[in-house]
Amino acid sequence: MVSIDKSLCTGCGQCAANCAVHALVREEDGTYRCNKMFCFRCGQCVALCPTGAASMPDLEAPVEYEPEKFDLDPAVLLNAMRFRRSVRRFTGEKVTREELDRLLEAGRCAPTSSNTQSVRFTVLDREFEALRPQIWESFADWARRENRKLLLRRYESYRAAPDQPDTLFYGANQLLVVTSRYQIDGCLALANIELMAHAMGLGALYCGFASWAISAAPALREYFGITDRQQLCGCLILGRTNLKFRRTAPRNPANVEWR
Ligand SMILES: Cc1cc2nc3c(=O)[nH]c(=O)nc-3n(C[C@H](O)[C@H](O)[C@H](O)COP(=O)(O)O)c2cc1C
Ligand code: SF4
Ligand code: SF4
Repeated sequence: MVSIDKSLCTGCGQCAANCAVHALVREEDGTYRCNKMFCFRCGQCVALCPTGAASMPDLEAPVEYEPEKFDLDPAVLLNAMRFRRSVRRFTGEKVTREELDRLLEAGRCAPTSSNTQSVRFTVLDREFEALRPQIWESFADWARRENRKLLLRRYESYRAAPDQPDTLFYGANQLLVVTSRYQIDGCLALANIELMAHAMGLGALYCGFASWAISAAPALREYFGITDRQQLCGCLILGRTNLKFRRTAPRNPANVEWR
């Protein structure tokens, strides 16, 4: 709920002019109030109000803008995006709880369709080792059904040395599973998290194989709370790495049509 402090509201109308759903109504005394029937709690009026009159008291306090804390050099940002890599060699040392909190914060900041904010993060950490065989078995069932012989070989290698780093998790032992009402919302959160992991010097790898394995097994779907209304968006392996990339990896040119 947006609350507007009448003693601070100057009636400038900036909040109302920007509100996507016209939820801010001008009162007779020239101040504004929020019609909560329309408001979808995007928080933009709070972020915009020049006097701090608008607030959402049931949520966290906003952080005031300071250029030196908030502005990014676009060239550096682009380089960070170019230099981010999928990591397939993990040391086995865990990402700390503090680091995980920071990664999840990056995910929480991502935009969501109609501000639904339905993204759910499951950090498979304590129960990772207990679940790893189940994920592998479901992966193997799926590969057999699809007759994916090369992928089945990965499973056989895992079975031959289950205590060694495998070709699903590459020695990592933390997996972030993201679900959401709308898949794109979870994907956007994952993209933020992967880039943040890179900025923090951590290793990350999207694991489509784990997603297939989880989707294919009713017990795993239940474990991660996947339903028709809470879809699996992706799995991101997290861990520490000693891999040192020295340059960017070549990419195809962008496939763009200018019309
Ligand atoms: C949705 C998605 C699923 C992926 N699944 C896997 C996977 O299961 N195993 C793997 O080794 N890499 C996986 N990758 C990593 C891609 O192979 C990788 O992004 C691509 O080769 C480009 O390399 P880069 O990320 O270093 O730029 C996945 C990437 C995406 C975006
Ligand atoms: S932007 Fe702030 S000060 Fe201006 S009308 Fe809205 S609540 Fe009042
Ligand atoms: S929170 Fe968003 S939708 Fe609600 S009144 Fe403010 S700007 Fe409008």
